[in-house]
Amino acid sequence: MIRYDFSPALSFLEAHDLDALRPRVEAAHRMLLERTGPGSEMLGWRDLLREPDDALLEDIDATASEIREQADVFLCLGIGGSYLGAQAVIEALAPLFRPPVDTETGRPLAPEVLFAGHHLSGGYLKALLAYLEDKSVYVNVISKSGTTLETMLTFRILRPWLEARFPDVARRIIVTTDPARGRLREMASICGYRRYAIPPDVGGRFSVLTPVGLLPIAVAGVDIRTLFYGAVEMCERLKNHQDNPALDYAALRYLFHERGYALELLAVFEPRLRGIGAWWQQLFGESEGKAGKGLYPDTVQYTTDLHSLGQYVQEGRRHLIETFLMVAREPEPLTIPDTGDDLDGLAYLSGRSLQTVNHNAYEGTRRAHTDGGIPVSTIWMDRLAPGPLGACLYFFMHAVAVSGYLLGVNPFDQPGVEAYKREMYRLLRKI
Ligand code: PA5
Repeated sequence: MIRYDFSPALSFLEAHDLDALRPRVEAAHRMLLERTGPGSEMLGWRDLLREPDDALLEDIDATASEIREQADVFLCLGIGGSYLGAQAVIEALAPLFRPPVDTETGRPLAPEVLFAGHHLSGGYLKALLAYLEDKSVYVNVISKSGTTLETMLTFRILRPWLEARFPDVARRIIVTTDPARGRLREMASICGYRRYAIPPDVGGRFSVLTPVGLLPIAVAGVDIRTLFYGAVEMCERLKNHQDNPALDYAALRYLFHERGYALELLAVFEPRLRGIGAWWQQLFGESEGKAGKGLYPDTVQYTTDLHSLGQYVQEGRRHLIETFLMVAREPEPLTIPDTGDDLDGLAYLSGRSLQTVNHNAYEGTRRAHTDGGIPVSTIWMDRLAPGPLGACLYFFMHAVAVSGYLLGVNPFDQPGVEAYKREMYRLLRKI
């Protein structure tokens, strides 16, 4: 389901570099598998795949079906790991444009899934509330701590708005939070909201395969069971030291990190994968960026960004590595028409598929960037579907854990995120 081709990057290393690192990679891998590394109390994201809870998947599906029948809009409030995974999978797999509409009633057959609570823009929220007017709205408040200002403040503004419009408001609010503590949990039990638990041993950026991600993803109509079991399969596959693409990826990143490279670009050629880039960016940024270490993760969408950042990537400062995330097969290729003339000078492409052109753009970019001095490698997904995407999500989570251990950091904490909060709360005079 996932293949990692790093051969082009090897020309930037010495022949023995990877082999020499192998014992350290295996040691880092053992720390993950044997739970001996820093932060090993936060490995619930692996446990939930090793012992799947099918009843929970069914329960989430049932709630999602109800929401799909009743709601025009399913609004998810959350920030960081509490929304990026859901947004990424929905962008990758749900209909790109407006959900299909019932021809008789004119109502959408599935709710629109929207995200808020991930910033503090009043202008955005005002516009959102105006958009929601006269729509049937369900809200999912997602916060593990139940204290995150962006999410909780948005909910504070939305709550009276919902109460004023919907007599069955308690049914329309679903809370996803820590099962044992936090204000949001208390609020849910006082107000009678439905609750889903975020396992205490799963950190936000590792929570996409818990109700944090699965409920919004199911509401968007994506098959969560296949997504989940794609990850289960990959978790099983990556248990070994041999033939393990996640270890190769972690090893390669580390070698370049140690050689002074500062930045990794995750480049996609499908607009649908942009959200996966944003999710990956948080996963790697928060897991590795500590103690003055880590590759700064950035994400680009080609060919779009070849016309903006492409110049820098080709000829700018040589401090970056590039990882392409590619999809091998497209279900329904789009054939370029023969227009019977050559007015646009593109007759040579007629009869080919746009996917072929896109893959040639990838191959051309890969060659050009290698020639320009960028170590490149490619992660291949065989197709864009729930199973391979679940596998891809797990691949990255497994890789970042090993990568963090190679760097000598705890990949599961994020102490640096508190710094801005402290300053902000001081300015807001929080008591
Ligand atoms: O990865 C993480 O742990 C963070 O990005 C959190 O998900 C984010 O800060 C939101 O936290 P919470 O879910 O407690 O509101």
